[in-house]
Amino acid sequence: MRPARARRSSSDGPVDLRSDTVTRPTKRMREAMAAAEVDDDVLGHDPTMRELETRVAGLLGTDDALWTPTGSMGNLIALMSHLRRGDCFLAPAGAHVLEAELGTAAWLAGGMPRPLPHDAGPGKVSPGAVRRAAGGAGPYYTMRTTLLCLENTHNAAGGTVTAPDEHAGVAAAARAAGLRVHLDGARLWHAAVALGVPPATLTVGADTVQVCFSKGLGAPVGSAVAGSTEFVQEARRLRKMLGGGVRQGGVLAAAALVGLDRMERLADDHAKARLLAAGLRERGWSAGIPETNIVLIPVADLDGTLRRFADAGVLASSMDGKVRLMPHADVSEADIAAALDRIGPVDPTPTVERMGLAGPGLGSSTRRSGHTPVRRTRR
Ligand SMILES: Cc1ncc(COP(=O)(O)O)c(C=O)c1O
Repeated sequence: MRPARARRSSSDGPVDLRSDTVTRPTKRMREAMAAAEVDDDVLGHDPTMRELETRVAGLLGTDDALWTPTGSMGNLIALMSHLRRGDCFLAPAGAHVLEAELGTAAWLAGGMPRPLPHDAGPGKVSPGAVRRAAGGAGPYYTMRTTLLCLENTHNAAGGTVTAPDEHAGVAAAARAAGLRVHLDGARLWHAAVALGVPPATLTVGADTVQVCFSKGLGAPVGSAVAGSTEFVQEARRLRKMLGGGVRQGGVLAAAALVGLDRMERLADDHAKARLLAAGLRERGWSAGIPETNIVLIPVADLDGTLRRFADAGVLASSMDGKVRLMPHADVSEADIAAALDRIGPVDPTPTVERMGLAGPGLGSSTRRSGHTPVRRTRR
């Protein structure tokens, strides 16, 4: 007998809003995976992976692109190619490369991280801040700052979008100061759809770009790192070194190609996030207005709130000390409405309890619920 499949969302199962990575491959993806034309991509090139890489390079406006199993590996490959041991690199505070990649930027790529405050709005740094941080050549004992690593959308800032002119201004300032520029575009598709612009308009001035197919696009696996032809040749060597060379990867690339076909669908996720945030505000939670599909809620008791949501049947994750909820393709507007009903008002204590009149057994949703506990994630 087949084991029962965990349900992502339904009127009776938990509504899973931990991340936009929790989606299951669609029927069309699975069919494309089954039918994919493949070959050994370590010995040569897998044709479906190559098709994906060429398409991604076209979308991003780069010479070429290379499939990687994860976004973390794509970022690491870029940083390894840009940094020499002991070089300093700049990134907006809270960037994934600073906070959620186990320090690989330092201990594998050799970079000394320097977080920059968001002086140009949430998730964004200004050209002036980059110029100041890049500095000039100092005394012989000072670090060389050689790289700026941007992130669009910025996950920890709540999926905030950097517009083409803002991005180009910061990238130009970095280049003028002699820095190379890497763009962590794990959710660059989300930014492009939110702005209604082609993704390539958001990569101007970047030497390398990393994008993910498993976040919002619904593919089960995969990212790409893109840049010049020379960079991609070197990236292929680094990927192999890191154990990321796969053989018949076309099976995975096929799902990513289908994911790219449905990129415009991300607008629905952004709309669901706005609906969710508005409903939360009506219930007294201090959720802002999301620019994409990430809803952050600052709360006094993070663990307690995550537990309360899970007990009520809404799975959330933590991000930068806040509760994070992320609508995705596998949740409907009805699921969002159900999630709001389950979460309820910020202070759920019934009046009788507040007056100290409640008897034993009243008031705890925990005791009533059998829902799965949340896991802390930072995807
Ligand atoms: C902004 C950002 N960059 C990189 C990554 C890493 O991607 P992966 O989980 O595929 O390693 C993530 C994951 O969520 C992310 O949000």
